[in-house]
Amino acid sequence: MTDLAQVAQSLVAQGKGLLAADERPDTLTKRFTAVRIASTPDMRRDYREMLVTTPGVSEFLSGVILHDETIRQKTASGELIVVAIEKLGMLPGIKVDLGAKPMASSPGELVTEGLDGLRERLVEYRRMGARFAKWRAVLSIGDARPSRLCIESNAEALARYAALCQEQDLVPIVEPEILMDGAHTIERTEEVTSEVQELVFEALYAHHVRLEAMLLKPNMVVPGEDATPPAAPHIVASATLRCLRRHVPPAVPGIVFLSGGQHDVVAIRCLGAINRAHGPRPWRLSFSFGRALQDAALARWGGKPENVEAAQQVFYEKARACSLAALGAYTDQLEAAPPQRVEAMLRDD
Ligand code: 13P
Repeated sequence: MTDLAQVAQSLVAQGKGLLAADERPDTLTKRFTAVRIASTPDMRRDYREMLVTTPGVSEFLSGVILHDETIRQKTASGELIVVAIEKLGMLPGIKVDLGAKPMASSPGELVTEGLDGLRERLVEYRRMGARFAKWRAVLSIGDARPSRLCIESNAEALARYAALCQEQDLVPIVEPEILMDGAHTIERTEEVTSEVQELVFEALYAHHVRLEAMLLKPNMVVPGEDATPPAAPHIVASATLRCLRRHVPPAVPGIVFLSGGQHDVVAIRCLGAINRAHGPRPWRLSFSFGRALQDAALARWGGKPENVEAAQQVFYEKARACSLAALGAYTDQLEAAPPQRVEAMLRDD
């Protein structure tokens, strides 16, 4: 196995997943503002440092996805954050797309930009210590959306990005996200997710991307957030696995879901249901959550140094719950249990 395939496998090691902490400064500012935290580069640095230095969290996290701002920052003690992450036993990754922009030929749809000069940026990030990268395509569901043209344009960009990453010794995380916005049914999400995954893998083949050295980061198949009633976790698990089994070759070592704005407990329950479902699951099925891992810890922190320890405890518990879900061992009782009880409860399960 080549080094890159080994890195891909280590990112989805048993019971481990990723922390997506790569929000753009303006996105994190919105999340800070919602809980009345002033957003400055130093506050954003303090927040990310608090998360990654949570004692013991590398038991559940294999890697952390950073933004360009963070990969250049140092911890309060003067160490580069990438170095601190590595010393703590996790791998640093980097978001390399430059955002989803309005598509000129298809009003109301988005295409992700960032291919110009990407090779040079990847060289720099690899030199800085990044071992993997992320590129997010954003698709939305509406009457005639997403259009075939929008799916194909985003799939092509994802494949060109992935090929460039592998050329530069970085594991690409390929993220085609279908947003939850709307009142569409779960069946409609399944239909769209299926088409998107089919065209993404077609593009990856066309660009000779090595499937063994990449990860897929998809949405779970859920109904639109305004649809009622919401789907039960086992229904989400069945629909999600149907799409993946039809379109994702077993050569791909892992699938790391985004949480997509689902409530954290719901996202974790769905991941648990996916890992407890019947039928073949030839890939590791884990998490690369942003909000589902962070929301509770961010609120607990509130930007106050005296809350760091309590916020880290909250973050540790969320990461532990995600890990249990990835192991197919997540139950409500386990989430509520004190850490020292969990191993015994798992043995008894
Ligand atoms: P969420 O889990 O908050 O959707 O974020 C994951 C991510 O990285 C989106 O690009």
